[in-house]
Amino acid sequence: MGGKRSLHSRELSVVNEVSKVLSGELPVEEALGEILKVLYSFWDVPYSFVALSDQSGRFLKIVKAFGLSDEEVERGIFKKGEGITGKVFKRSIPVVVSDIDSNPAFLNKTKIKDKLKGDETLIAVPVRSGGDTLGVLVIFKRFSKGESVERCVETLMIVGTMLGMFCKLNERLEKEKREWEEERRILTEELQKSFNVEGMVGKSEAFLKTLELVRKVAPTDSTVLLTGESGTGKSMIAKAIHFLSPRKDKPFITVNCGAIPENLLEAELFGYEKGAFTGAYTSKKGKFELANGGTLFLDEIGDMPLSLQVKLLRVLQDKEIERLGGEKVIKVDVRIVAATNKSLEDLVKEGKFREDLYYRLNVVPIRVPPLRERKEDIPLLVDYFLNKYNRQHRKNVRLTAKALDALIAYDWPGNIRELENTIQRIVVIHEGVVDLRDLPADIVSPLKDVGDDLVDLPAQIEATEREKIIQALEKTGYVKSRAAKLLGYTLRQLDYRIKKYKIPIKKF
Ligand SMILES: Nc1ncnc2c1ncn2[C@@H]1O[C@H](COP(=O)(O)OP(=O)(O)OP(=O)(O)O)[C@@H](O)[C@H]1O
Ligand SMILES: [Mg+2]
Repeated sequence: MGGKRSLHSRELSVVNEVSKVLSGELPVEEALGEILKVLYSFWDVPYSFVALSDQSGRFLKIVKAFGLSDEEVERGIFKKGEGITGKVFKRSIPVVVSDIDSNPAFLNKTKIKDKLKGDETLIAVPVRSGGDTLGVLVIFKRFSKGESVERCVETLMIVGTMLGMFCKLNERLEKEKREWEEERRILTEELQKSFNVEGMVGKSEAFLKTLELVRKVAPTDSTVLLTGESGTGKSMIAKAIHFLSPRKDKPFITVNCGAIPENLLEAELFGYEKGAFTGAYTSKKGKFELANGGTLFLDEIGDMPLSLQVKLLRVLQDKEIERLGGEKVIKVDVRIVAATNKSLEDLVKEGKFREDLYYRLNVVPIRVPPLRERKEDIPLLVDYFLNKYNRQHRKNVRLTAKALDALIAYDWPGNIRELENTIQRIVVIHEGVVDLRDLPADIVSPLKDVGDDLVDLPAQIEATEREKIIQALEKTGYVKSRAAKLLGYTLRQLDYRIKKYKIPIKKF
């Protein structure tokens, strides 16, 4: 086997190894490092570096080196066209310098010369891809007799092009990744804006304010009092508070204080021992014990009987309970979230709710706004419930813009629950596109409003009558006989009404 042939296979090995590294999915800098190592071990290249262009294309900077100290790497900044590296970059052609010591083009910017023996040859080739030059690959190597510099340059040119393609591809991938990440960030932001805590839908300012408070208070152990009309989402928020708290892996227990008769409610909350009352054949844990470590949600707290309010207050203060008919005191660690659609202040004034308990519960009050105060949420909620029930019923019911407008305009006294039920009904009953006329009558027809007005009809008629009389009097300069004529009243009828409505008579 001749020398030339063996050299040839060495160069092939280099190319082969380089391509292996480049297909290895390494990050750019690591891959470059590996390649310089390949040049060292397969080709006896003791010093080498890759300098890549910055964004502006006016400077090159060493991004990876082999055999160079950190200081030398740091000094490796080259202006385009400056020195050998700069020239190779500018012209995109390979350069070979065999007499580094005496060649004035070699600027020794890295101060690598101190290390060199003096008989090394510098070869610099462009790192390029397509028509773009991205940087320069530089090696210092001693050539033995019979080793072809020319073939080395050719091989390095191939390596330079491989590097260029690799860098370019990575750059594009990086860019795509950045764009993709940006897109994903915007999407999640959008999603978070509309789908907030625990799947709650809404983006109105009023709703977001409520959620902000929820997020703030959830991680604390503070007692929370949720107020708001029926169907506004109090129960849902109570759950969210629990699941956003460190207690989330412990139980969330609900007690509806309005739905359980007084005598049972006490047993429900505190539990009982066997024989505590007729029918207590076994002992049973109360909700306080069951919720230990977690959250106890006291729904409809306004309906709690006064006698129990005292007991609840005591538990909140002492953090311990006693089962009915029991003697043991049981420590409980429970976070309380309470909800009411009644005004506790009013109940306190009426003597139906203990003031001390009210203050104890009202540590952090959160008002859940009614739907009519956050109409921007209606389209989102409609969409959300349409999706939910379409999926459930395997349908594809949609609303026309007019139908949606009607839903937005409606007052929703039953709030989100009413909206949800309405959409569910629409999905069950209809197919395809649902228009205004398909909506429930009380939502579309203005009759509902008129109905509301009719409640105050006598008052309204009176107000109108008073207004008309004043207008007539103004018009006639407060000459009552003329005003009466204008209105179609007798003077006596007008006088009677002026007194009734307490209309001040201006004298001129
Ligand atoms: N922001 C929301 N996004 C999606 N669904 C919601 C939202 N708020 C409430 N809901 C849904 O609306 C319905 C009523 O909510 P919830 O039961 O929490 O109201 P509430 O205020 O507790 O009512 P009540 O006073 O009658 O107990 C539930 O089905 C709930 O899932
Ligand atoms: Mg509720």
